[in-house]
Amino acid sequence: MTLPSSIVILTGAGISAESGVDTFRDRDGIWSKFDYRDVATPEGFARNPALVHDFYNARRSGLDTVAPNAAHVALARLEREFEGKLLLVTQNIDDLHERAGSQRPVHMHGELAKALCARCGARHAWRDSMSCASSCPTCEAVGHVRPDVVWFGEMPYHMEEIGEALDGCDLFVSIGTSGNVYPAAGFVEEARHAGARTAELNLEPSEGYSLFDEAIHGRATEVVPAFVERLLNGRK
Ligand code: APR
Repeated sequence: MTLPSSIVILTGAGISAESGVDTFRDRDGIWSKFDYRDVATPEGFARNPALVHDFYNARRSGLDTVAPNAAHVALARLEREFEGKLLLVTQNIDDLHERAGSQRPVHMHGELAKALCARCGARHAWRDSMSCASSCPTCEAVGHVRPDVVWFGEMPYHMEEIGEALDGCDLFVSIGTSGNVYPAAGFVEEARHAGARTAELNLEPSEGYSLFDEAIHGRATEVVPAFVERLLNGRK
């Protein structure tokens, strides 16, 4: 494999699965237990904010019980040792990339450990429980604090930066995502349009597997470290 000069990596829930973080669409996944319309839409939050806070409070408190796995660690190694440009984009709202040593994962769906004030727009680190009685540390308004997570129907974050990176990359790697949710599911086509080589690393073929030049199926903790090793050693 010739060494690329600019890499974009997209990760999804599958990279955190072996750390014990639930995925969304696997058997027993999050969306088999909750209706996304109730807990991951602005309408659901307006209808029953306490239910939404409970949903994210349970996931936020779970962050302390999980740790990065070999796949997260391998991507942090790639970031350290790769001499070209690398952008790590994640759909995940957990903090496992950061805890594995990645310097700046781009959280396009937001972050579980952050709060957004719907009143003043301020964002704050938030590791504790959140409720309708929570107040914004900036404007002190009560009842306007929400998880800083992008819900269905809302615009994902950092899309301009991601689009520019995709337009200039020569390798796009998708890891641990089912390819069900746009705009992330369309990144492979943007990368192909830019002339990039594309690879999918996933437990099983994703919705868009046929769009990838290379598909490596297996557990992230096995296939990601092997892929990074191969990339850094410029092996065929
Ligand atoms: N190793 C590699 N891949 C895995 C592993 C594993 N150990 N376990 C599961 N997978 C794969 C599954 O095969 C599946 O294709 O990870 C993928 C997870 O898919 P989803 O559960 O749909 O998660 P994701 O693609 O990240 O969802 C995208 O949907 O609900 C929204 O905002 C939410 O960010 C999320 C978005």
